[in-house]
Amino acid sequence: MAWKSDANRWGAGARTLHWLMAVLIICLGAVGLYMADLPNSPQKIKIYALHKSIGLTVLALLVLRVAWRMADRRPDEVPMPHWQALAARATHLFLYVLMLVLPLSGWMYNSASGYPLQWFGLFNLPSLTGGADASLKGVAHAVHEYGFYLLALLLAAHVGGALKHHFVDRDDTLVRMLGLLRRRGTPPISDEPATAAPVPPAAPVVPPPATVTSQENPNP
Ligand code: HEM
Ligand code: HEM
Repeated sequence: MAWKSDANRWGAGARTLHWLMAVLIICLGAVGLYMADLPNSPQKIKIYALHKSIGLTVLALLVLRVAWRMADRRPDEVPMPHWQALAARATHLFLYVLMLVLPLSGWMYNSASGYPLQWFGLFNLPSLTGGADASLKGVAHAVHEYGFYLLALLLAAHVGGALKHHFVDRDDTLVRMLGLLRRRGTPPISDEPATAAPVPPAAPVVPPPATVTSQENPNP
């Protein structure tokens, strides 16, 4: 298994981080929207603590992902109109920004509310605001909530784009991020060096018929 990406496909490192973070972020969004309206109970406190710990995990994974991305390369773009390539790049950039803003605003909201923060009960994280702060709390909450709505919009475009590439353009964009399937119309992805295509047998060399010029003609 190739961990690093090459010109045609994403490596296992980039794919693992992409899909792991995608699942965690989608679950965090669903749980976040669900938990906010729960009545106060020990159960609600546990769900909040889990949401915060998984959110902080996303932040740590983002640091790893950006470092990996800087050390790795990006596969070549599949052929597409220039504006589509630009739109995809801008969407990816905004997704990276929101993967940073959402955990940080959640952490800021928690700090400004004056609550302690632990990672899965294992260790404490520092307060970002140095204590409760009502005005920062409101700002952080708004950024966390509306940031998520923006993320959901971008994700709809991102997933829609991936599906359009797969089903309409029938190119490799989605399969090379899945990394499991054959690329369309090309040989299966393999780590083995490509073997040379068999060379067709050479056509027999037939000498051209001798041309007879008037000077050479023995029977004028
Ligand atoms: C079911 C959901 C998803 C699908 C089908 C999907 C699909 C893809 C595909 C096919 C690519 C490769 C694009 C290319 O080769 O140019 C990609 C890249 C990317 N995806 Fe997703 N994705 C999903 C969820 C997410 C989520 C939840 C996030 C983050 C919030 C995300 C962030 C990114 C980023 C930042 C890239 C660009 C990677 C880079 O160039 O470094 N994706 N995604
Ligand atoms: C990518 C990471 C994260 C995502 C996608 C996410 C998403 C969400 C969403 C959608 C909500 C519901 C917003 C609302 O309707 O009020 C929410 C609420 C919340 N999140 Fe996050 N979150 C993330 C990370 C974090 C982190 C790291 C923390 C804290 C350390 C955190 C703390 C909270 C808290 C305390 C609430 C409840 C707000 C309330 O009671 O109104 N989140 N989150």
